[in-house]
Amino acid sequence: MTNAYISGTGFHVPPDVVTNDDLIRRFGVDTTHEWIVQRTGIEQRRFAEAGVGTSDMALEAARSALAQAGLRPQDLDLIVFATLSPEHAFPGSGVYLQRKLGLTDGDEPKFVPALDVRNQCSGFLYGLSTAVAHVRAGMARHVLLVGAETHSAALDLSTEGRTVSSLFGDGAGAVVVSATDEDRGVRGVWLGADGRFAEVLCQKVWDIRQRPFIAKNPDRSGTVPPDMLWATMDGKVVFKHAVAAMVGSLMRACADQRIDLADIDLFFFHQANLRINQFIAQQLGVPEDRVPHNIERYGNTTAATLPILLAEAAQSGRLRPGMKIALVAFGSGFTWGAAIVDW
Ligand code: ACO
Repeated sequence: MTNAYISGTGFHVPPDVVTNDDLIRRFGVDTTHEWIVQRTGIEQRRFAEAGVGTSDMALEAARSALAQAGLRPQDLDLIVFATLSPEHAFPGSGVYLQRKLGLTDGDEPKFVPALDVRNQCSGFLYGLSTAVAHVRAGMARHVLLVGAETHSAALDLSTEGRTVSSLFGDGAGAVVVSATDEDRGVRGVWLGADGRFAEVLCQKVWDIRQRPFIAKNPDRSGTVPPDMLWATMDGKVVFKHAVAAMVGSLMRACADQRIDLADIDLFFFHQANLRINQFIAQQLGVPEDRVPHNIERYGNTTAATLPILLAEAAQSGRLRPGMKIALVAFGSGFTWGAAIVDW
């Protein structure tokens, strides 16, 4: 049987470090370092400069992942791009990444399909399940899976918007999912969703049921009211459901694989809030030294948190071949998922 394993990882974060104090100094947000750290664990995040888009950061991460896998872009059979902050309403960022990888250049272009995934903080795991399914079915040998976000462009960096805007940062992570005959790789991905909570964490921007979808001004420009323009969130509801769904999906994955939590060497949890992850680890009795985190440095990079965390752990040697790991995420939708991987 063909298995699907992660043959390369890479990540890219923009150079501009924005500390919690910078939110006050540079952007005039009425907050404190202590408020943010106590509730979320976030100390700083990265913001991309104007002119840099989601597929630009994805390109850097993808190049690293391909180099680590020993592959050229031309070896790819599919690109899966998970983001909630694509360059434009359409097309998605996948085709921009394909073009920037040089796949459409030269005498022998390769028109690799580019699939865009819109599952917010669970986007990487939804994308992983798609990549693994393609590889196992023999439809692809190498799939590039990217999670990337440019949140800084769409954050309400004001005191009114502080509950949401102090949480998020920019960045990109990438993995290559490849076919192997070895007994290793992604054992399974278990996903879930609950559309009853679609409005609890959302950024609507437009309403396609309205005519036109954005209120039109006499000069043909459009006006978006603040409650549609910026992300809104009921943080307490998100917190409660995140804990329940992440614990539930992890336990379901373990049951399916007939393994215990003690069999798992490292737990990679979506980096939305350090307190959520500490609470889950406590509930499950998992020691904190088996739960890597980097939210203190990058904030919540949504679809990018898991691949960035994986790439950092692989680069530092903390994540090594032979380890059994769990990946768990929860986000807007609500959507969630867990994966078990023999690295
Ligand atoms: N600095 C200072 N004060 C703030 C800030 C800030 N950055 N943000 C909010 N406040 C204030 C609010 O204005 C409010 O003031 P008021 O009482 O005068 O109205 C007060 O703090 C309490 O606000 P709450 O929103 O009730 O704060 P809460 O204690 O719930 O903490 C938080 C907010 C940290 C977001 C918390 O609800 C949480 O962690 N939720 C989990 C959701 C999450 O992590 N989402 C991330 C994205 S989703 C995902 O990726 C899964």
